[in-house]
Amino acid sequence: MSDTSDKDQKTFTLTNDQTGESCKLPVHDGTCGPSVIDVRKLYAETGHFTFDPSFTSTGSCKSRLTFIDGEEGILMHRGYSIEDLANKSSFLELAFLLLYGDLPKPDEMSEFKENITYHTMVHEQLNFFFRGFRHDAHPMAIMCGVVAALSAFYHDSLDIWDEKQREISAHRLIAKIPTLAAMTMKYTMGQPFVYPRNDLNFSENFLHMCFSVPAEEYKVNPIYARAMDKIFILHADHEQNASTSTVRLAGSSQANPFACIAAGIASLWGPSHGGANQAVLEMLDQIGHKDNIPEFLERAKDKDDPFRLMGFGHRVYKNYDPRAEVLKVSADEVLSDLGVDNDPQLQLAMELERIALEDPYFVDRKLFPNVDFYSGIILKALGFPTSMFTVLFAVARTVGWISQWKEMIEEPSLRIGRPRQLYTGPAARPYVDIDKRK
Ligand code: SDX
Repeated sequence: MSDTSDKDQKTFTLTNDQTGESCKLPVHDGTCGPSVIDVRKLYAETGHFTFDPSFTSTGSCKSRLTFIDGEEGILMHRGYSIEDLANKSSFLELAFLLLYGDLPKPDEMSEFKENITYHTMVHEQLNFFFRGFRHDAHPMAIMCGVVAALSAFYHDSLDIWDEKQREISAHRLIAKIPTLAAMTMKYTMGQPFVYPRNDLNFSENFLHMCFSVPAEEYKVNPIYARAMDKIFILHADHEQNASTSTVRLAGSSQANPFACIAAGIASLWGPSHGGANQAVLEMLDQIGHKDNIPEFLERAKDKDDPFRLMGFGHRVYKNYDPRAEVLKVSADEVLSDLGVDNDPQLQLAMELERIALEDPYFVDRKLFPNVDFYSGIILKALGFPTSMFTVLFAVARTVGWISQWKEMIEEPSLRIGRPRQLYTGPAARPYVDIDKRK
């Protein structure tokens, strides 16, 4: 991995306490964050695997895209802080940064914007895929299907070893998934699909496709568009989370990028991951009133009760999720801009956060609000149905997924991901014919 000379190479020595055998393993340092112990030769030298079922201590790859410091609550993309990007950048500019490594110069930005804009329409035949779903299908079920179907339309860009085809697939996915998301929302509402508009920017166009109807003109509210763009920025990428790891593993088999992104959508759907934003709103409805908060906090602590405080806790952040900080401020701004003062759900969420962060159970486990805790409140204020919240997360995370996929494919040492296991099943035993089984 690193070109450190042998004498300067840092190492970690593992010793088998039973046999006294030891194995010297290289240690690699990143730009910042924890160093890694390179265990690639561990099995060959010791006959042992490492064991880390939910990857709490495992680095699956090298990456230059995103850095998270969970203890300090830091998130940066290519060295730029999420706070700066959320307050000064745009979602499409962040997409360029994640894909190509630097903030675009003006001419690069106009070319990129044009490339994305002119790929926002989908093949007209894709409309027929929607007809196969029940009108009350969950929007994420529809998205899993229609995004995977994209690969049936773009045989001219499925060669993952061709740099130009990789780039056009990335542009097509970033441009078309918002269109498919808006079509999904329209289909579940029984309203006609709305075509993209090239005269609108990314988030304005998305809101127009979601909320305009043929019966009257729809003017995009700039406050809504800015809030939408900020939400997309905050959800764009997040290191090797479950859905990104799913995309990378699917991509390691050389599956086409459309199929890989569909796999990422499926993984994001879970309530422990991207499905949490929908679950937070449902939880706030379930709690109903601040007087009920203590009862629900007790349920969240009860190991025999499946209830969890949705939007709280994180595998990496053991401090406040910096995205939740930005969203909390944004929720307040958007709601007051919309004239929705003292929104009851926002008030309930802030009271729930206040009480939980005084409770030793949550403080001792460093369970803070995460990105999903406040996002749903803004999305609801913007007019989205709760069932669309995770679809909106997928629209944003497509930029991170495809950037991570591109980075992996462009690594010289791409190999299929193939973890091993600790086998705890039966030892070898002879087959017994059915008439001899007792
Ligand atoms: C996202 O990985 C990413 O980067 C994800 C994400 C991204 O941008 O891609 O940031 C997006 O997925 C955010 C997380 C959204 N999910 C939720 O809000 C669902 C609620 N949160 C929990 O399910 C949980 O906190 C997870 C899944 C987020 C993290 O789970 P971990 O790291 O496996 O932690 P854990 O379950 O081992 O919890 C440690 C302790 C346990 O108690 P003890 O066994 O130590 O007594 O904390 C408890 C847990 O029971 N705990 C909670 C809790 N979260 C953890 N207790 C009550 N409510 C919670 N929400």
